[in-house]
Amino acid sequence: MNKDYFKKAQKWLLEEKYNNQVSSNFKKDLARLKQGEPLDYLIGFCYFLDCKINLSFRPLIPRAETEYWVEKAFDEIKKEIEGVLPQKEIVCLDMFAGSGCIGVSLLKNFPGLKADFTEKNGDFLKQIKVNLKINGINAKRYRVIKSNVFSRLDKKRKYDYIFANPPYVSVRRKSKVERSVLKWEPAQAIFGGKDGLLYIKKFLKEAKNFLQPTGKIYLEFDSFQKKAIEKLIKDYGYKTCRVFKDQYGRWRYLTCGL
Ligand SMILES: C[S@@+](CC[C@H](N)C(=O)[O-])C[C@H]1O[C@@H](n2cnc3c(N)ncnc32)[C@H](O)[C@@H]1O
Repeated sequence: MNKDYFKKAQKWLLEEKYNNQVSSNFKKDLARLKQGEPLDYLIGFCYFLDCKINLSFRPLIPRAETEYWVEKAFDEIKKEIEGVLPQKEIVCLDMFAGSGCIGVSLLKNFPGLKADFTEKNGDFLKQIKVNLKINGINAKRYRVIKSNVFSRLDKKRKYDYIFANPPYVSVRRKSKVERSVLKWEPAQAIFGGKDGLLYIKKFLKEAKNFLQPTGKIYLEFDSFQKKAIEKLIKDYGYKTCRVFKDQYGRWRYLTCGL
């Protein structure tokens, strides 16, 4: 581990979790940090936009790349919904929700919106509920649903915005994934089959059936998948598609609609 990073991480751990008091538990955590365990798991939370995101059930740690595009999405949505609320109800979906960071920050930033969260892993469903609670979101504004992609969703419910950050790393690229990610983060949140497109395909194939005619999808992906995904979007009958880079100059997300 990089020495400078370790020094910084040690300082954050002491401040955030131990109120600057060195204790035997702090020393135990320090040993785990040295072994490569992510600081965010040791501290037990991280920040995503202006939300505190609890990580005690160990979902995927929200990434800076995700935070980047979600912030861009919020800027667009702000403009799009101006003057629409409260006349029309706007309902969103955070699919593959994990910690719930995307949907929780959405609900916190847009007090008039409602959202459904879907996730396959039962522990992460609990995690989402914790994060909704600690961020003060009124329970009338959301539903948390256990679902394998769209399997448990009602087709009659159409969404204005669907956000998806699916597991999209290709198993073939496993050797390029950081060791600490492989060791500590949930594999089911990371890998999307041989080409990484397994869940992206399942998602895109069905998402249009759950979208309002004027609705919009935001989807995160890996830069090398750009061409394949653009083809899928056409094949599955979406009419619009825009592809964007992340803060590091890599193709990272798209918006599409009907
Ligand atoms: C890349 S993580 C995204 C987490 C969070 N949205 C974020 O951006 O940090 C993908 C999530 O999808 C969930 N997942 C994997 N397969 C799924 C499936 N078939 N149906 C629903 N959720 C699934 C994983 O458990 C994981 O929490």
